[in-house]
Amino acid sequence: MEENKKVIYSAMQPSGIPSLGNYLGALKNWKNLQDEYNCIYGIANMHALTVRQNPTELRQRTRNLIILFMALGIDPEKNILYVQSDVSAHAELAWILNCFTYMGELSRMTQFKDKSAKHADNINAGLFTYPALMAADILLYQADMVPVGEDQRQHLEITRDLAERFDNIYGDVFKVPDAYIAKVGARIMGLQEPTRKMSKSESDNDNNVIFVLDDLNQIANKIKRAVTDSDTEVRYDPENKPGVSNLLSIYSAINGKTPEENALEFAGKGYGDFKKTVADAVVEEIRPIQEEFKRIAADKAYVDKVIKEGAEKAGYIANKTLRKVKKKVGYPN
Ligand code: TYM
Repeated sequence: MEENKKVIYSAMQPSGIPSLGNYLGALKNWKNLQDEYNCIYGIANMHALTVRQNPTELRQRTRNLIILFMALGIDPEKNILYVQSDVSAHAELAWILNCFTYMGELSRMTQFKDKSAKHADNINAGLFTYPALMAADILLYQADMVPVGEDQRQHLEITRDLAERFDNIYGDVFKVPDAYIAKVGARIMGLQEPTRKMSKSESDNDNNVIFVLDDLNQIANKIKRAVTDSDTEVRYDPENKPGVSNLLSIYSAINGKTPEENALEFAGKGYGDFKKTVADAVVEEIRPIQEEFKRIAADKAYVDKVIKEGAEKAGYIANKTLRKVKKKVGYPN
């Protein structure tokens, strides 16, 4: 890693196949940041345990996510791609940070509230202290910036608070990171329920979520079936036209124009044309990623090597910070 570059850290849970929301809200930016910054991207498989998982599937999805990162064009030579549980410093720092995190602030986390409502039979302590582990992830690498979707903003705030709290007591240990949230694409909504975010761990309605490894025809069909409204005008108005606005956001996150600019392209055209254009854009965006995914997945030895080297490189940086923290809190060594 180059000394003079700023550090970017982000991670994704292997709790399902990444959705178009994960891709447009996070992964697409991760790729674009790799030339300007030193990027460290993790597979947050320890976080995924907060919800019951099938072990075989979890292992496979963890590996597939590393492959997907590479398929997007994230270069494992230039960046660090690694699996969270391969670096035990995460668990160790998470414990320490747990002891500096207040019950009150954890109870205000909307993700905790949402997930405990959804998994009422399994409201475990890990789900509650999830933000302390996430803070550990980020702070171990002294990250300057954390590219995430809008739903992670609150977790970034608590990370900053924890870093400041710790530094106030023990001196300069952690860098206080900034959230990096893109203007478009930071909150992609479900195609059937455009008032709720698109989520990879959602399985109730197949047409609601596009998974980046879905068959390309299926992707196009999901967009064509997306809920719109009884009006005919393509206009960006998230409050009154959530379905149409979501499709405009998706299109914008792909072509870089604003949703308002994109709406102009469809003046006088119907929803059919509009959906077809968006569907084509999404399919062409995803096609090369899927091809690369297949190619890389076939090379098992290479994937093993990337995972092993990623763990070593990440572990080296993480343990440097952890050693400092251990000394500060009074561990004997
Ligand atoms: P996760 O795995 O739920 O999501 C990964 C990334 O995708 C973004 N995202 C979205 N963006 C736009 N629209 C959507 N519908 C959408 N759904 C998800 C998320 O904001 C995220 O950036 N706790 C994190 C994983 C994590 C992490 C970290 C992130 C663990 N440790 C350290 C950053 C730094 C999570 O559950 O993301």
